[in-house]
Amino acid sequence: MAKLCSGIILLVLLSILTHGNSDEFSRKLSKKAMGLKREKLSHLHFYFHDIVGGKSPTAVKIAEAAMTNRSATGFGLLAMIDDPLTVGPEPNSKIVGRAQGIYAQASLNDVGLLMVLNFAFVEGKYNGSSLSVLGRNSVMSAVREMPIVGGSGLFRFARGYAQAKTHTFDFKTGDAVVESGEFLTGISQLIFGLSRCHSTDSETDCELVTKMGTPMKHSSNSRRRNGTMRLFVTTFIGVVFGFFLGVTFPTISLTKLPLPTNLFPSIDLPEMEDKFSGLSTQALLNVLNSLKGRGGSSRKNNGPKIWVPSNPRGAERLPPGIVESESDLYTRRLWGLPSEDLIIKPRYLVTFTVGLKQKNNIDAAVKKFSENFTIMLFHYDGLTSEWDDLEWSQRAIHVSIPKQTKWWYAKRFLHPDIVAPYDYIFIWDEDLGLEKFNAEEYIKLVRKHGLDISQPGLAPNSGLTWQMTKGRNDTEVHKETEEKPGYCTDPHLPPCAAFVEIMAPVFSRKAWRCVWHMIQNDLVHGWGLDFALRRCVEPAHEKIGVVDAQWIVHQTVPSLGSQGKSENGKAPWEGVRERCRREWTMFQDRMATAEMAYYKAMGMNPPNSTTN
Ligand SMILES: *[C@@H]1O[C@H](CO)[C@@H](O)[C@H](O)[C@H]1NC(C)=O
Ligand SMILES: *[C@@H]1O[C@H](CO)[C@@H](O)[C@H](O)[C@H]1NC(C)=O
Repeated sequence: MAKLCSGIILLVLLSILTHGNSDEFSRKLSKKAMGLKREKLSHLHFYFHDIVGGKSPTAVKIAEAAMTNRSATGFGLLAMIDDPLTVGPEPNSKIVGRAQGIYAQASLNDVGLLMVLNFAFVEGKYNGSSLSVLGRNSVMSAVREMPIVGGSGLFRFARGYAQAKTHTFDFKTGDAVVESGEFLTGISQLIFGLSRCHSTDSETDCELVTKMGTPMKHSSNSRRRNGTMRLFVTTFIGVVFGFFLGVTFPTISLTKLPLPTNLFPSIDLPEMEDKFSGLSTQALLNVLNSLKGRGGSSRKNNGPKIWVPSNPRGAERLPPGIVESESDLYTRRLWGLPSEDLIIKPRYLVTFTVGLKQKNNIDAAVKKFSENFTIMLFHYDGLTSEWDDLEWSQRAIHVSIPKQTKWWYAKRFLHPDIVAPYDYIFIWDEDLGLEKFNAEEYIKLVRKHGLDISQPGLAPNSGLTWQMTKGRNDTEVHKETEEKPGYCTDPHLPPCAAFVEIMAPVFSRKAWRCVWHMIQNDLVHGWGLDFALRRCVEPAHEKIGVVDAQWIVHQTVPSLGSQGKSENGKAPWEGVRERCRREWTMFQDRMATAEMAYYKAMGMNPPNSTTN
């Protein structure tokens, strides 16, 4: 008897196992049996109402980060919505469904929202079906496109995209609402188009099923009247949103937002901001967007607009193909073909900050640089024609502005976008002896050792301040040193490593892009900059170093002192020196303050380093 029982059980098991053709939890379905035939496109169209204030808002802020109220774009804000979807734009228009979900401000630099929404439909054959949207809503764009990632019920297997466009807005006075007084109701138009389903005949209406699997609507085609399910729906949604998104970005400054101001020629942004300061910025953006489309000259101009957030700041209205965001210092001819202007494109840039007194020294120095270097002179004494007799002077670039410093010129004339063609940039003083220096060899070594910031070693007894920059006999390059006891808290930090001086630095293109931003407009002597260079490269103790094999002599000519002015009974050089020291302190303070502010804003614990 027991034997018989176990025989039966075995049979049952076998029949279960042989039933499925692959494994226990999945089996293949026939597309045909599921009614999946040819895909068809459908177009859906409706309006979207986003009410961001008043008595019954449909969009509310649910969370924000500690830094959100300090972010110019409201980064970190989360909002929940349950917005009605209607047939027409009027608030009392027939409701076809609701948009429910979350959006989050996920962009640090512009208003780019992460949208996670379900459109839950209640009307007609769509009742009970939903579509899901997951995408990016670049609010400032005229048309925003978001992917439809799926759906349920009638929209099973849906795919497609939604396009949102600002339609209209309604600015209301909410008598009943004491706190806010006024609020915005966003009326959005959602055009749903091109819903696709499987059908044998694309010309006729698709036959679709509800989520219960019962055909809701039968087409006239008898072949499909047998009740087979036709499930596969691909939906393209053309959405015209009025106020797609309302809700609160309460502390965002409109004037700080990267608004395409020229699109709103007649609107005074600060004034708008003032007037509507109690409102959400998003709502304001919607107002602006909508005003943009109204009346006046902008009405004529209702075609598609260009707005490319990835363009350089301020150039968003240009098609990317025409944007030339970098330039060079190459001189061009006034005739002939532009493409034939440049016989040689120097790959390196050398600048000297000079006065006529050092003419002979500079002449000797410049001769050490080949044609592969663009030579640029910053004349701090205003004397330039006196250099004309030098052969190389004709092809050099002369910038003459009296009584300024190297870092002042560098900030004004060496913007990273201007010097972008150069692999390496030398920003050198005038009192350097280059007898033993070969520039091409120097660059080879810098490349070989991966130095983004470097300087040649200094000959012994030539104006040495720091051990680090002292040239060595036995190496090509060194990246660290020992200093006097107590000078270095960490062997990887200045002045023991990650350190060169400011008299003869050489920057890679990449490093210069960072260092340029660190130069302060008012701190012209650059004191303290050398200690902070390490912030621009990572790891600094490997990418900053001194080239020993190509060394120079620092002649320590105190040229700047003579450019000073005597004041309060002090000699000019004393005033200059005093200011140098003061600037160093100011720079350190600014850096420390900026660093603390950043860590605090990001909710991070500052590392227990460093004032530099
Ligand atoms: C920003 O929000 C924090 C709380 O998250 C608050 O303590 C701080 O006062 C707010 N700052 C401003 C400027 O509103
Ligand atoms: C939608 O379906 C629900 C439940 O199935 C039903 O209660 C409701 O009346 C339907 N609405 C419309 C407009 O058909």
